[in-house]
Amino acid sequence: MKQVKLGLCGLGTVGGGVLNVLKRNQIDINARAGRELLITHVSARREYPHLDLNGIKISTNPMDVALDPDVDVLVELIGGTTLAKELVIAALKAGKHVVTANKALIAEHGNELFAIALEHQVSIAYEAAVAGGIPIIQVLREGLVANKIEWLAGIINGTGNFILTEMRDKGRDFEDVLREAQALGYAEADPTFDVEGIDAAHKLVILASIAFGMPLQFDKVYTEGISKIAPEDVVFAEELGYRIKHLGIARNRTNKGIEMRVHPTLIPESRLIANVNGVKNAVLVKCDALGANLYYGAGAGAEPTASAVISDIVDIGRSLDNEADAFVPALGFSSGKLCDFTILPIEEVECANYLRFSVLDRPGVLSHIATVFSDLGISIEALIQREPLEDQDHVPLIMLTAVTEEKRINKALAQIENQEFIRQQVVRIRVESLK
Ligand code: HSE
Repeated sequence: MKQVKLGLCGLGTVGGGVLNVLKRNQIDINARAGRELLITHVSARREYPHLDLNGIKISTNPMDVALDPDVDVLVELIGGTTLAKELVIAALKAGKHVVTANKALIAEHGNELFAIALEHQVSIAYEAAVAGGIPIIQVLREGLVANKIEWLAGIINGTGNFILTEMRDKGRDFEDVLREAQALGYAEADPTFDVEGIDAAHKLVILASIAFGMPLQFDKVYTEGISKIAPEDVVFAEELGYRIKHLGIARNRTNKGIEMRVHPTLIPESRLIANVNGVKNAVLVKCDALGANLYYGAGAGAEPTASAVISDIVDIGRSLDNEADAFVPALGFSSGKLCDFTILPIEEVECANYLRFSVLDRPGVLSHIATVFSDLGISIEALIQREPLEDQDHVPLIMLTAVTEEKRINKALAQIENQEFIRQQVVRIRVESLK
């Protein structure tokens, strides 16, 4: 059997998972690839006594792996966008294929890397970069090729979903759950990437670019995290029949442009995706021929991510006897066929809104707020108001609006927020029906 020689940079959680799964399932994997997958060279900065590295060359400098003539495929698992980018470019230019789990690298530098790969007639594969083990890149790029994709919405950060789930199920507070997520190894090295939505934005831009056939434009994703979600919003959302999920949403507003946004979102509790809990990920894709379809599974962790990395390696192994241009294009559209769609600014986005006002309990307040909404043509769909607690002079007032342009909601809030009856900044969470 011919071989595929693999060079692995990074022996952390995912690297260890790749070694273990490749070893455990090597007979089936090789049979599927039609080649023997062989790790010939790894880079590591310290000892890994728990890993079996027998017969594998070990270097401290990852560039030695990227440039090793005895490596056909560089598997980049070190993360970050500086050294990782140098390694990937060096490997591509040396005529090696690259497999990476690095979402930041693809989201921020993918256009450049794909062009280099094309020029050197090699492939760069990144299934593990989005939603861990869920094969969502293959789904969008291959399984759904017949469809026009209308929108997709994903729970694509496990840490954020774990935090929201614990807040809802156990009434725990944000900081406490975040500490646990870090201890469990779900969170990124810098957990602000998880809780402020940057990790999800990296993943969303990749999904959106494949779904709609456009270059990656990470800087155009509107990004809002979950750090300001208060326990009472979780409770009020439930009362209204919704769950709060941190979603990445990409929507093709035909003839207008593309929405790309990451933010906490109220979704009806009856939707399957509303019941995706803990560290799990899920991506809901709405397209014209298939309709709505949901992909669910482990979005992080050693072996789930290794599962995606190895599937890319097998794809490359299978294609090695073909012409170089037989590779599936990096974003699924042939070279020169990507479109420069307008990415809509958040002010142009249209969705319903959950609003929580903290207002003085006195006559005329509700009518004042309702008048502002009515004057701007914003319909109120649901309303909750509580009696004040004994020692308080203000009350929570919760509203759900109909689908409205973001800029109109902003205008309404600007008129309301400066009123002296408003006690706290208004809480606004977008609402999606996902129908
Ligand atoms: N920190 C990421 C998450 C890991 O929580 O989903 C996988 O990208």
